Amino acid sequence: MRRASSSTDRPVREPVIERREYARRRRRLLEDAGEGCAIIVPAAPVVHRNRDIEYPYRPGSDFFYLTGFPEPDAAALLLPGRGAGEYLLFCREHDPHEERMRGPSAGLEGACGRYGADDAFPIDDVDEILPRLLEDRPHIWYSMGEYPAFDAQVLGWLERLRSRPADPSELVDLHPRVHEMRLYKSRAEVRMIRRAVELTERAHRRAMAACRPGLAEYEVEAEILYELHRTGCRTLAYPCIVAAGANACRPHYTANSGTLREGDLVLVDAGAEYGCYAADVSRTWPVAGRFSAPQRALYELVLEAQRAAIDEVRPGRSWQAPHAEAARVLAEGLAGHGVIGGEGREDLMGRLCAYPTGHWLGLDVHDVSDYRVDGEPRELEAGMVMTIEPGLYIDPAELAVPSPWRGIGIRIEDVVLVTPNGAEVLSSSIPKSVEDLEGIVGSGA
Ligand code: GLY
Ligand code: MN
Ligand code: MN
Repeated sequence: MRRASSSTDRPVREPVIERREYARRRRRLLEDAGEGCAIIVPAAPVVHRNRDIEYPYRPGSDFFYLTGFPEPDAAALLLPGRGAGEYLLFCREHDPHEERMRGPSAGLEGACGRYGADDAFPIDDVDEILPRLLEDRPHIWYSMGEYPAFDAQVLGWLERLRSRPADPSELVDLHPRVHEMRLYKSRAEVRMIRRAVELTERAHRRAMAACRPGLAEYEVEAEILYELHRTGCRTLAYPCIVAAGANACRPHYTANSGTLREGDLVLVDAGAEYGCYAADVSRTWPVAGRFSAPQRALYELVLEAQRAAIDEVRPGRSWQAPHAEAARVLAEGLAGHGVIGGEGREDLMGRLCAYPTGHWLGLDVHDVSDYRVDGEPRELEAGMVMTIEPGLYIDPAELAVPSPWRGIGIRIEDVVLVTPNGAEVLSSSIPKSVEDLEGIVGSGA
């Protein structure tokens, strides 16, 4: 297969989050917390796959958001108002044997010199050093429940401190504070997401061009992985979905083991991860490059629902508004086509559209932060990034639907940035009109 592009089309300078931006994030948290607080943020642990084999390491999103430090066996300690330095990093020391086996690590001097810590200590000494730094700080900001082994360490430190007269008595949940910050993307973060989306576009285009009847779903997945890996992106933001025919009626299908048959649609949901930032894009197209009449009718309906939902994305609108608009368009369109009748319509709609219309997107594909504030759906604000992904999932066994429509699954998903005046679809150049899809599918990259 011809290479879709050469290494010379790479941008001259890949986007990065600068060191000063991490420092700004920590500063904000330090100021919110104030003196008397200590903020503890552990790195994600290494996870074993089996015996002595590890999963590829991916930093925990909160720790990475605040530090940019990419190694495991680390923890950040923020101490507001501490004259001798407010940002301390515990991490691995240089280990010549490990570094001969695996390659270099930052070490304590790298933690300060490259990652901006005011001081760094060996992670092996954390039990001895960290609790002493908590003395006279009665409010410990830490989130329990994410990393159980680290939770046990923190509880041990608190136990030790509580046996003294002046004990730090209050444990404050850190998640809501950091997650609220993560909801509003900076310009640099938007550039990172744009880059993840650009890489995703290349992968989707390649999969479309390579598509033909007879391929296995995993062969389409292979096109996506190939295109991403050859750009240096070795991580997807989530396991890729390639769902042909009725497999597309299961929104969380990931087996990717079926066959693409002439006359079927195929749903591809694949997003690159770039610098730990996610893209999340779904496209659905005809395996052989031509929509049948019922497929086209439903596809255009989902597309119309998506356009209507995206029109609702602007500052001041409720988080629920795009969902409500997509549901309205889908219900009217399905009734118009005779897919749903009068009786039991609500229940049936619930089954056919049993998947949310979108979610926040950022360092996590289903990014953090509450969708409701004081019990009400959150208002959209500039800087938020979300997906808009209406879908129709008509199970082959859905007897309440006339047979020509059964077994069709469609999702169209884009990444949308809320701007000061409306919305920008960051993934708008990934083909999705009927004409564009029919033009590219099977064109043989
Ligand atoms: N790919 C996961 C999702 O669309 O939410
Ligand atoms: Mn999504
Ligand atoms: Mn998706």
